[in-house]
Amino acid sequence: MSADTPGVAPGIRKMIYTASKIMQPALLEICALLLSVACLSAAAAEAPPAYRTIQPLLAERCGGCHKPGEIGPMPLTSYAEVRPWAKAIKEAVLMHTMPPWFADQKVSERFRNDRSLSPEEIHKIVAWVDAGAPAGELVSATPLPVSNDAPEPSRKPDLVIKVPRMHVPASGTVEYTFLVTNLHFGEDKWIQEAEWRIDHREVVHHMNAYVRPPGSSYVATAPYDVPYVASKSERTARRADESENDRRELLIGYEPGYRPEPWGKDRAKLIHKGSDMVFEMHYTANGKEVVDSSELWLYFADRPPKERVLSLQPSDRDLAIPPGDPNYHSFTAARFTSPVTLISVQPHMHLRGKAYQMEAVYPDGRRELLIRVPRYDFRWQTTYFLSSPLQLPKGTVIECSAWYDNSPNNPNNPDPEKTIHWGDQSWDEMNVGFIEVAFDASNPAEVAVLSSNSLPAVVPPHP
Ligand code: HEC
Repeated sequence: MSADTPGVAPGIRKMIYTASKIMQPALLEICALLLSVACLSAAAAEAPPAYRTIQPLLAERCGGCHKPGEIGPMPLTSYAEVRPWAKAIKEAVLMHTMPPWFADQKVSERFRNDRSLSPEEIHKIVAWVDAGAPAGELVSATPLPVSNDAPEPSRKPDLVIKVPRMHVPASGTVEYTFLVTNLHFGEDKWIQEAEWRIDHREVVHHMNAYVRPPGSSYVATAPYDVPYVASKSERTARRADESENDRRELLIGYEPGYRPEPWGKDRAKLIHKGSDMVFEMHYTANGKEVVDSSELWLYFADRPPKERVLSLQPSDRDLAIPPGDPNYHSFTAARFTSPVTLISVQPHMHLRGKAYQMEAVYPDGRRELLIRVPRYDFRWQTTYFLSSPLQLPKGTVIECSAWYDNSPNNPNNPDPEKTIHWGDQSWDEMNVGFIEVAFDASNPAEVAVLSSNSLPAVVPPHP
């Protein structure tokens, strides 16, 4: 293919030219029909998209990870950075491997942090690469701002919690590390916004900030204020009578590509007086030794909000995946005992995770698919924020179905010979359907009953 006529082989170009010169109009029409497929791209060929229309697209959808200091292996924010990668970019967008986004858009809800490209955008990028990735007239020779550049804070945070300097070696495994710190809140506090300020994004696989109310059993044996690797039994210990909310609540998670997502107007999360913060930090070595000094910024609400935001995690702790099973199904659910508004969802499994689906079942029996992830990828923990939060009446159930491949055909499977149970390590498994909901702040926190293992009447087909 020649560089100046993308999508049309030179031979065909010549044919179109010759045909228009010698053929009768009727014949020409037939020719046009016959060549319509080629002509579609020929139309694009007449005006290859200019880089000035590509640059903002790449900045918006790719730059969040492909910028210096981020997790992407190369920056893609300026022409000089993009040009050598043009072919690889074309391949990645055609194969839908980039940008990483796993919800099936055709059936899932709309998500406001959706970074996937539309077919038109893919077509545009491909046409530009096929045209030889010309620079044309540059919008800006310097990188454009990208979607997850830390926004200028509108005001100063009320509390900055510094994660102690974490040493991340150039290679090898960094143990999943905990840090427990006492917040010293003498009264209950409403948190209007929480925001991660990550120092070395290129080495952070994920971070979670959990709130541990007084008396909780959660990693209760960990010392305060020193990075700590908790054992499996320390991490799973819980009192029989303890509800998940009494044990811990996720305040905010960080994952690659993260950008702050507000919970909404007049909404806040509640931290009870005397609570601790438990940071869970998963670092991955990235070829260069670094010391990470990340921070969590908290903004307090100056008065109690109208709605409280709560993070719930229905989990199937009884899963037992037989050795070699290529399609094990696990189920967990949350039933709401008060009306709530659904803000976000996040499917969570480990290395054997294959597919995931969350569905709302309304009290009248109507079902609504919230999210379907047909090809789950453990490397990408993604929180999906609904573009229009959903009102769920009292009695609605959210069903979370997970499928696992414990066969040798799963290239990520560390050991197909074992029965796999619940556990924190990536070679154990989990089925957690993280859900964030908002509800009348004067309600008690017990707005949902989480079922751990009751199977649905009908097992849904694998998506
Ligand atoms: C959420 C983070 C993220 C976003 C957004 C993202 N990437 Fe990536 N990209 C990565 C990471 C991490 C890798 C390396 C690991 C991998 O391939 O999965 C990568 C790898 C790639 C590669 C392969 C590089 C190689 O070594 O062959 C290409 C090409 C690429 N990205 C292009 C893009 C383009 C184009 C976009 C936007 C349309 C994009 N990426 C958006 C994180 C991201």
